[in-house]
Amino acid sequence: MEKIIDETKQGNSLVLEPKKENGRKLFIESYGCQMNFSDSEIVASILSKEGFNTTQNLEEADLVLVNTCSIREKAEQTVRKRLEKYNAVKRINPGMKVGVLGCMAERLKSKFLEEEKIVDLVVGPDAYKDLPNLINEVEEGRNAMNVILSKEETYGDISPVRLQSNGVSAFVSITRGCDNMCTFCVVPFTRGRERSRDPQSIVEEVNDLAAKGYKEITLLGQNVDSYLWYGGGLKKDFKNATEMQKATATNFAGLLKLVAEAQPKMRIRFSTSNPQDMTMDVIEAMAKYPNICNYIHLPVQSGSDRILQKMNRLHTREEYFELIDNIKKLIPDCGISHDIITGFPTETEEDHKDTLSLMEYVKYDFGFMFAYSERPGTMAARKFEDDVPEADKKRRLQEIVDLQQKHSRYNTEKFLGKTVEVLIEKESKKSDAHWSGRNSQNTVVVFPKENYKVGDFVNVKVEDCTSATLIGTPVGYSDNN
Ligand code: 5AD
Ligand code: SF4
Repeated sequence: MEKIIDETKQGNSLVLEPKKENGRKLFIESYGCQMNFSDSEIVASILSKEGFNTTQNLEEADLVLVNTCSIREKAEQTVRKRLEKYNAVKRINPGMKVGVLGCMAERLKSKFLEEEKIVDLVVGPDAYKDLPNLINEVEEGRNAMNVILSKEETYGDISPVRLQSNGVSAFVSITRGCDNMCTFCVVPFTRGRERSRDPQSIVEEVNDLAAKGYKEITLLGQNVDSYLWYGGGLKKDFKNATEMQKATATNFAGLLKLVAEAQPKMRIRFSTSNPQDMTMDVIEAMAKYPNICNYIHLPVQSGSDRILQKMNRLHTREEYFELIDNIKKLIPDCGISHDIITGFPTETEEDHKDTLSLMEYVKYDFGFMFAYSERPGTMAARKFEDDVPEADKKRRLQEIVDLQQKHSRYNTEKFLGKTVEVLIEKESKKSDAHWSGRNSQNTVVVFPKENYKVGDFVNVKVEDCTSATLIGTPVGYSDNN
């Protein structure tokens, strides 16, 4: 249930092609969202030039880095357990250095060096280019830290190494930070203010991925619809831009068009969308370009206007319905998923019922559901008491999960008898005789392998389903091959 990205990937250590001239060994593992996994690829790329090859064997590492998440308390607890493990290994291998990257590093800063004696290095999400200097410091026996958040940094100039990739789909980061200030969320504090990456460097990265045989990219950001390039700088400073900068700026719909036209055969996805920032021109671009997938991750968090307001979500339930109606009007078969938080401070049974009825209206394809976890420093932690009893949070969460399960099945059943285009990603987890991939709506499809291979676009006739998976028979290559 606690799911932002594929759970099976949480904490996996990442490995890339070794360089012969590199003598040092880096063990790097990641927790949290796709953005963190994408950042680890940037870190590995920077350190590869500093003489580090990656290893999956913790015991032989010269440097251990953990890219961390602060979104809920549980995410932080997981990392603390890992730090204990590193500590045990350090007793056997005293030369090993340990560094904490990402959101927990930014949130806890020097507390890590003071309290967690095992940590040598603390680096926030905007300071990875400083890693070579910081590692030198550490090697000379000093602790090192850089948690400065930046107005400019987008790592647009670093070509990430693709760690543990299937060679078919890749993430391309387009914005960093978040200006929304949802009251429950730690992200504006850990990842700083919103800034966008140069569209030219995004298109170049996508072209490069296409040349390497990739078939699908996901444009990544905390709030992709807010993307705005006007020559660099923070989103909030756009109002001070020159007339020229304003006239030539690129918004998210503009970026989608650039990418879709640069690589007409590449499947394009994006995540995450914020209801208040999603505009009609984005939905129109999705409808216009067949290579932009018909799928939107559109977190709502709550169905109650009162709670939405306390969360500072800046849209009402009615406005959300309007957006859903517009999406369905232009893209009738669009897949839609959600994030929902249950048990936000003061949430009543009435508010909870509003969330269930909102779900009934939308009938989401799937979703990520969480019990509220108070995060130190957020507006909600300062202003509201975490007053919904654990037992109520748990029961409400279960009711939301059960309803989602029902809607997921309702949606997968709609595909029965239809033929869908699937991009093959990997072998099915349950059977080595089957391929697994996704359709445009982001639903997993499994089917017999026959002579198809990973990276093929295949038309599959859907014959059976569970609430999460479509099961079918391949009927030939799709036109997109
Ligand atoms: N407690 C529970 N869930 C949270 N999320 C963000 N902050 C919290 C919190 N304090 C959830 C939101 C968000 C997703 C990434 O994590 O639903 O969309
Ligand atoms: Fe976790 Fe949010 Fe940071 Fe991603 S941005 S690592 S989800 S706290």
